[in-house]
Amino acid sequence: MPKSNFLPVLLLLLHTIFSFLSFFSCSQQLSASQSQALFRLRRILEYPPPLSSWNRYTSFCYLPSSPSLSISCSSTGQITGLYIAGDGGRSSLSANFSSDSLFTTLSRLNSLTSLSLVSLGIWGPLPAKIKRMSSLQALNLSSNYFNGTFPDFKPMALLSELDLGGNFLGPEFPSLANSIATLVLRKNNLRGELPVFLAALDHLQKLDLSSNKLSGPIPPLLFSLPTLRYLDLSANKLQGALPLSLSCGNDLNFVDISRNLLVGGLPSCIRTNSSNLIVLNSWNCLSAAHLKYQHPNSYCMRKPLAAVLPDSNKKVGSKSNLGLILGVVGGIIGGILLIGFILLLFLKKVKSEMNGVKFLHKPIDGSNSIPVAKRTPADARHMSQGVIIGTLGITPYRVFTIEELEEAANGFDSSNLVSEGRQGQFFKGWLQDGSTVLVRRLKLKQKSSPQNLLRYIDIISKLRHRHLVSILGHCISAGEGNANTPSTVFLVFEYVSNGTLRNHLTEWRKREMLKWPQRVTAVIGVAKGLQFLHTVMIPGLTGNDLKIENILLDETLTAKISNYNLPVLPKNKNKKVDCEIPFDIWEDGNFGSMQNFENGEKEDIYQLGLILLEVITGKPPGLQGELDAVRAQLLKSLTDSPAKLGIIVDPTIRNTFAYDSLRRAVEIAINCASKDSTERPSIDDVLWNLQYCIQIQDGWASSENLSTQS
Ligand SMILES: *[C@@H]1O[C@H](CO)[C@@H](O)[C@H](O)[C@H]1NC(C)=O
Ligand SMILES: *[C@@H]1O[C@H](CO)[C@@H](O)[C@H](O)[C@H]1NC(C)=O
Ligand SMILES: *[C@@H]1O[C@H](CO)[C@@H](O)[C@H](O)[C@H]1NC(C)=O
Ligand SMILES: *[C@@H]1O[C@H](CO)[C@@H](O)[C@H](O)[C@H]1NC(C)=O
Repeated sequence: MPKSNFLPVLLLLLHTIFSFLSFFSCSQQLSASQSQALFRLRRILEYPPPLSSWNRYTSFCYLPSSPSLSISCSSTGQITGLYIAGDGGRSSLSANFSSDSLFTTLSRLNSLTSLSLVSLGIWGPLPAKIKRMSSLQALNLSSNYFNGTFPDFKPMALLSELDLGGNFLGPEFPSLANSIATLVLRKNNLRGELPVFLAALDHLQKLDLSSNKLSGPIPPLLFSLPTLRYLDLSANKLQGALPLSLSCGNDLNFVDISRNLLVGGLPSCIRTNSSNLIVLNSWNCLSAAHLKYQHPNSYCMRKPLAAVLPDSNKKVGSKSNLGLILGVVGGIIGGILLIGFILLLFLKKVKSEMNGVKFLHKPIDGSNSIPVAKRTPADARHMSQGVIIGTLGITPYRVFTIEELEEAANGFDSSNLVSEGRQGQFFKGWLQDGSTVLVRRLKLKQKSSPQNLLRYIDIISKLRHRHLVSILGHCISAGEGNANTPSTVFLVFEYVSNGTLRNHLTEWRKREMLKWPQRVTAVIGVAKGLQFLHTVMIPGLTGNDLKIENILLDETLTAKISNYNLPVLPKNKNKKVDCEIPFDIWEDGNFGSMQNFENGEKEDIYQLGLILLEVITGKPPGLQGELDAVRAQLLKSLTDSPAKLGIIVDPTIRNTFAYDSLRRAVEIAINCASKDSTERPSIDDVLWNLQYCIQIQDGWASSENLSTQS
């Protein structure tokens, strides 16, 4: 019995060993130079997360493919396909990165036919040596930070799919081999006219050049390319009329020419949708199309707007010869002029009243129980200076025209809509000067008086500070029914693009940039923004519902509060001015209430404390129970040894802080987040102490005193 059993077991064992060996030998198939190139690639790309688990035992050709990584190999052990995608967080690689060495390494993978490096923060020029990758058939480098001119793709004779969308390449069109079938150059810096050779690319199936600055006419032959299915030329500055005799290719099933400066009638094949062709043509000046979704002719004829507006606006109106358009534009201008006139009269009156009374700084009260240092009167004076200095250097407030905003936000197209809610709609847009803005569209209440609106705008025009997402200007637009009654107000804000403070605490790439000094500086920024809101008028703007995910950082890591309160005006008893918020939002009366300045102020301090706690520990404070536990733990460690404190703080900032600096910050956070609101310090005290933290830190850093670190 045992003997007859032994053979199958032995066979099974041998089989297992062989299959293991054969697997092992497969994994060794990739030639040493190819896997070396992969490891070098990982280093050059600064260790993106999808590659983090690679080690010298990794069998690259047998990795399961995932949405962020896939590798394919030939039977001879050469890599033929490589796909790596980042998480879309999109912060750029460090200053040490070199796109030149990236492509040197890539060209060692000389059997590569398909390469995708997407959303990896790659920056710099696309070097000419890319042509060495001559076997490449598909190249996707979208959503990175490539800039400079396009290299010559003509030598890459096999290339049929090229996606360089979402970079900063341009301004000239690249030259391409005739083999190209898919060409995506959307969201780059292409300028000038569409090259005629495009209409000769007779393998072209998909062409996406949207969101560039292309001008001039569209070559009519483009539409009749025999293989073309997908054509997107939207959001450029393409001009002129299309010939009415234009014909469309048989395979064409999607055409988007919207948001350009096209005029005249539409050729029949792209006039309307049909069963096999979707056409998008809105926001040009086309006459055959649905007039409601087109601009007036003057919009497509004019020269680019200069920065100063009301005059050019008048000219546009008087030159237009369409009665309908004249009526509408005239109405808007009339409305704006009328409102401007009222504004002048009214402001003169109101301002003289307000001067010295309404916009004084809040007197500083010294009665609170924070057990840490208090500022001296000299410090207090310095702080008020600080409030004023913070408002310098922001572009002057101005009035925008509706046309300028329509152009900036692509006619308020849904693709520009960032968010929509009870605070109105927010659109992303680009002004003529190239700056990015956030446009907030608000409906006016029907019964709101013009005085109320103007007074309101006068006040919010003061909400401009280095540490607020500041308002840049506004635009009042006429109603659809009655052109003399304003119905919609647009508020234009600066656009802050570098993510939130929380992103910078959680995302690995951003986290590296935020060491202890940067973290304290960011919280100081928030405190300064808050101090400004509390003192910009009397009573101040409090109850700002401060949240870490609403603190935005710009490219220089300057913190800006984005969701601060828009004021509800206090009643002015003598003048009986209707002081309600003029917009059709905020059903609940609590939001933005000024009834209770003190409570709102203490609430803001509490939330600032939570932000500081998260910055110290690197973790959201969570629910009340957890918060109490963290506070207790911190309190205990304050009285214990420095090492205990070092365990609670975010591991990312270990070895980057002076112990006394951190200790002071922990004390402030504990006090601010106190349950008893009377124990919470004033904003001035918080700010003074945070600045003291930085001073300690600076002293520590410059003396390189390592003996006190955790
Ligand atoms: C850049 O390279 C230098 C020298 O190789 C190194 O000291 C520095 O830490 C690197 N910087 C980054 C951000 O990787
Ligand atoms: C490309 O970007 C880098 C880094 O932002 C910049 O230094 C360089 O001048 C840019 N090059 C071009 C041609 O715009
Ligand atoms: C390039 O990669 C991105 C991300 O995976 C994808 O959305 C896009 O469609 C790709 N481009 C082409 C032309 O396939
Ligand atoms: C075609 O249909 C799309 C929706 O599928 C619509 O947005 C577009 O306006 C239509 N185009 C025309 C010209 O009617």
